[in-house]
Amino acid sequence: LHIVHATAEMAPIAKVGGLGDVVTGLARACITRGHKVDVMLPFYECIQRQHINNLVLISTYASYFNGDWIPTNAYRGEVSGISVIFIEPSNHFFKGQSVYGGSYNELEAYLFFSRACLEWMQVTGTQPDIIHVHEWQTGALPLLYWDMYQDLSLKKPRIVLTIHNMEHYGECSQEQLSKCGLDGSVYATEDKAVDDRTIGHNPERLSLLKGGIVYSNAVVTVSPTYLKETLCSGWLASTLLRNRDKYSGILNGIDSAMWNPATDVFLPAKFDAENFQGKNVCKHFVQRGLGLALEGTSSGSDRVPLVVCVTRLVAQKGLHLITHAIHRVDELGGQMVVLGRAPDGRVQREFENLANLYNQGSGIRILLMYSEELSHMLYAAADMVLVPSMYEPCGLAQMIGMRYGAIPVVRKTGGLADTVFDIDQGSQPELANGFVFEGIDQGSLNWALDRAFSSYREKPNEWATTLQKVMKVDNSWNKTAGQYIDLYNTLRVKW
Ligand code: ADP
Ligand code: GLC
Repeated sequence: LHIVHATAEMAPIAKVGGLGDVVTGLARACITRGHKVDVMLPFYECIQRQHINNLVLISTYASYFNGDWIPTNAYRGEVSGISVIFIEPSNHFFKGQSVYGGSYNELEAYLFFSRACLEWMQVTGTQPDIIHVHEWQTGALPLLYWDMYQDLSLKKPRIVLTIHNMEHYGECSQEQLSKCGLDGSVYATEDKAVDDRTIGHNPERLSLLKGGIVYSNAVVTVSPTYLKETLCSGWLASTLLRNRDKYSGILNGIDSAMWNPATDVFLPAKFDAENFQGKNVCKHFVQRGLGLALEGTSSGSDRVPLVVCVTRLVAQKGLHLITHAIHRVDELGGQMVVLGRAPDGRVQREFENLANLYNQGSGIRILLMYSEELSHMLYAAADMVLVPSMYEPCGLAQMIGMRYGAIPVVRKTGGLADTVFDIDQGSQPELANGFVFEGIDQGSLNWALDRAFSSYREKPNEWATTLQKVMKVDNSWNKTAGQYIDLYNTLRVKW
């Protein structure tokens, strides 16, 4: 198969959250299984060029936007063994210091990008079997394909959309949609009876994500539980129900080479499930580096568990519970490190205040930044990884934590419910691998966190056994990449 991903993120060169990890991990898993993969990505000004090998200009062409044909360069490079096509328009799109939030109109930039991907495939005669789009950012690509690029190739590519997060639905006016050359009025109607072809009833508020759902050949979301949740509630539930036959849930995996404590270049000592002495070295390294007390050889209630929370600081992630956990861990005499970045100024200030309150002297450190390197070290140092999300389509932090020997403490929602099973409550003890709570209140979190602390302090042998067990859980793409490949194969047009 030849698969082309069109995406707004890719790890490690343009990563904001799990989308970037998933594109890289899935692409690599498909390449390992003998398929050809290209990833198409905007050539962001902020892209981490040091991770790109053999970058060359491969085409100069023009792509349509708002009445003009914008001169555009396409470069090819190699990232983690994956072929990446970088699309660079000559206008101001994708300029700025971060992947999102630049001073250009993001919606228009991704509309441009969606068409520029198809245009590039057409001018270069690229003939994929599958075009795999992700999130609202490339949700317009299927509309563009059916509307004006069906002659793209003899192979008649089929289109797969993966929805990583239903919250962001790419709100777009009819007029904006028209800027990429589509007739916006075709996709907007106030008549609810013809909902199955339109992507919104209010011409001012169409949804590119809905466009992706209606016009792709298959729609996937990133865990079986999130699939059920999205069919039951939310603005797009009725659209998804109408498209139920082509909608499925495939659990994400983590890239087993990128996330491997036995080979991780960011760690001061390596370890694995058979020999996890190196994990203590990592814990001491982090404690020393952050000015936290070293645990030493204490026992019982003197043992000091290190809780880690690596996250985007947004409402989805349970901000009030993260804040509460900071207080609770401090109260319990543990240590906690939060590594996070808040896109919202108000949240950023709230966490800055907390950092000012705690960062001196206590066992709490709040690091308001994005750092790939530090995230690897923290997972390796952690005894527990906290993920108290309000909703979580899949969640990679708990999977990465497990691979690095950190026991997950999570709220039971979405993909967290599919990957973490409570040690004390579960009906299948062989699956038990963490501490799970359901409520969204502080008491529910305390219940899980307190149990984790007691277990760490009072049952060190059982803790070590669980740690070894969670490190062996296979959350890699080995488990689920095959489901994507089966899907690609059923869709592929055979000649
Ligand atoms: P989401 O995609 O909703 O942010 P996931 O759990 O799926 O949540 O993926 C988050 C990814 O981003 C993980 O690889 C996590 O380690 C990483 N990450 C989140 N915040 C930071 C940060 N501040 N610094 C480094 N990595 C981060
Ligand atoms: C989204 C979701 C997260 C998921 C990630 C990768 O950002 O919030 O739960 O793991 O995408 O699919």
